[in-house]
Amino acid sequence: MTNRKDDHIKYALKYQAPYNSFDDIELIQHSLPDYDLAEIDLTTHFAGRDFDFPFYINAMTGGSEKGGAVNQKLAQLAQATGLVMVTGSYSAALKKQENTTYPHRKDYPNLQLATNIGIDKPIQAGLRTVEEMSPIFLQLHINLMQELLMPEGEREFRSWKKNLADYANQISIPVILKEVGFGMDVKTIEQAANLGIKTFDISGRGGTSFAYIENQRGCNRSYLNDWGQTTVQVLLNAQPLMDKVEILASGGVRHPLDMIKALVLGAKAVGISRTALELVEHYPLEKAIEIVNGWKDDLRLIMCALNCRRIEDLKKVDYILYGRLKDSHSFQKTIIDALR
Ligand code: FNR
Repeated sequence: MTNRKDDHIKYALKYQAPYNSFDDIELIQHSLPDYDLAEIDLTTHFAGRDFDFPFYINAMTGGSEKGGAVNQKLAQLAQATGLVMVTGSYSAALKKQENTTYPHRKDYPNLQLATNIGIDKPIQAGLRTVEEMSPIFLQLHINLMQELLMPEGEREFRSWKKNLADYANQISIPVILKEVGFGMDVKTIEQAANLGIKTFDISGRGGTSFAYIENQRGCNRSYLNDWGQTTVQVLLNAQPLMDKVEILASGGVRHPLDMIKALVLGAKAVGISRTALELVEHYPLEKAIEIVNGWKDDLRLIMCALNCRRIEDLKKVDYILYGRLKDSHSFQKTIIDALR
């Protein structure tokens, strides 16, 4: 039998989502800038901390030999470039009573390390995860459609809200509620905010599809491969919440222009999974470091062309929506206006 974590890596690398919502948003550039390139500032702030760069390596793997090798490469890349790295779900380590496939603080003293666990795991698991990993924040993932599709997946969901409240109340470091590529809906964000969660990674559709991955693993419901809301659609829907909670964006982010588009729509930072996996699997470490450092330069370059000095300024950039996004957004806007 193949390892589930190895299957995730294999099928994530194989899949290219048929539609990426970042292609349907265009930014209005500015021809007469106020700033020199050297003045552009990439720092951002979320989960109670300042970060040097507005993108991070999002949760992926651990718990298998292959996952461990990928994690070591991601940790080296993150440490060398100053990015935050979030490990994949730590529940595999809790089951096996060992965490050798996850990066250790002692091996990477300068790494900004965060970790991840599923909402189905009771608070004791979360407390142990934080104790063993000393992460800078804990992502709590919600992956309902994935669980439903997996034959071995969770079938009881009534505990999820109670677990969420426990994590919000009892974990001493910031807890980020995170989707896994299906796009978090506004009602979920509002409910979780009422329970005390302040930061959300809305992880939308457009990149990795866990419906596709589970269907490749034998679940045979390929008509659900494109389940969920796209990343840009979720960000548009969440506009009324941008000043109340911290939104992080992930799902289908391919390059610095996608990152900037997410930041224009109010995200505090942007997570990359599949794109980071491709980097470490397809290139030697030195080349991957060079590419990531190049992305930082590219972010500055694009910000300069939008006349924005700070990440915060990007929120003022005008944009045009095309295609599916335009139609769905005007529909959505009509509903919001009707409710006012
Ligand atoms: C993931 N993702 C994920 N998310 C999570 O919260 N816990 C996890 O353990 C994993 N595991 C995992 C494995 C692999 C191989 C991939 C590619 C992804 C989901 C990930 O963090 C992200 O939400 C989605 O992949 C969407 O982003 P991308 O891949 O389109 O950038």
